[in-house]
Amino acid sequence: MSAAILQRPKSEQVTPGPAPVVTTPRLTLRPHRLADANAIAESLSDFAITRMLSRVPAPYDRQDALDWLVPVTSGSLPDWHLAVTDGDDTHIGVVSVELRHGRWHLGYWLNRYYWRRGFMSEAVAAVLERFSRRMPESAVHSGVFADNPASLRLQEKLGFRMTGCVEIYSFARNTMVSHVETVLQPGALQITKAA
Ligand SMILES: CC(C)(COP(=O)(O)OP(=O)(O)OC[C@H]1O[C@@H](n2cnc3c(N)ncnc32)[C@H](O)[C@@H]1OP(=O)(O)O)[C@@H](O)C(=O)NCCC(=O)NCCS
Repeated sequence: MSAAILQRPKSEQVTPGPAPVVTTPRLTLRPHRLADANAIAESLSDFAITRMLSRVPAPYDRQDALDWLVPVTSGSLPDWHLAVTDGDDTHIGVVSVELRHGRWHLGYWLNRYYWRRGFMSEAVAAVLERFSRRMPESAVHSGVFADNPASLRLQEKLGFRMTGCVEIYSFARNTMVSHVETVLQPGALQITKAA
């Protein structure tokens, strides 16, 4: 057997395949459509959400949503950008696992009307469970602004560990903000019934 066949590719060079449809007891997570633009713009017109996201501008409008959706729906990215929908296919949020500089990064947001009911814990747990089945050797990186205890709690429950703190630029706040860096190591995902 040649060395080329024996050599395993680095896990970060492998991609997880097309974005799946993931179902949970209360939610369906599916690939995005251009038709999601209005719902995304409506949710992200809320500064309570955009202030917690590093790369999303505020104010945010339908054209911003389309600028994001065009590449995301093109089928040309290795990333998963899943629409979080309720039983009526209403778009209520996003869970993304995307490749940035060779590392997989988790990001998410939820329409404020749905907060504090465990929806995002349920959604992120299900996506990471599916991702880890396809990419069992890959770490997943993430992070939260230091003033975002809900998101930090969500990640800690799932097994993420803090790795450091850096100042990063927030587009929505238009200033530097302390950002806690986190990572979920391969095999560290914890899914409890409550998640
Ligand atoms: C962060 C966010 C996704 C959480 O969604 P959610 O569906 O409300 O989260 P959950 O209901 O699953 O709650 C997650 C945990 O945070 C806790 N929590 C929720 N709001 C909280 C708050 N304001 N302060 C402290 N803890 C909080 C919950 O109690 C829960 O912990 P528990 O299971 O131990 O009780 C949502 O608030 C959001 O979209 N925020 C704006 C965007 C954002 O922050 N995205 C993430 C960027 S890193």
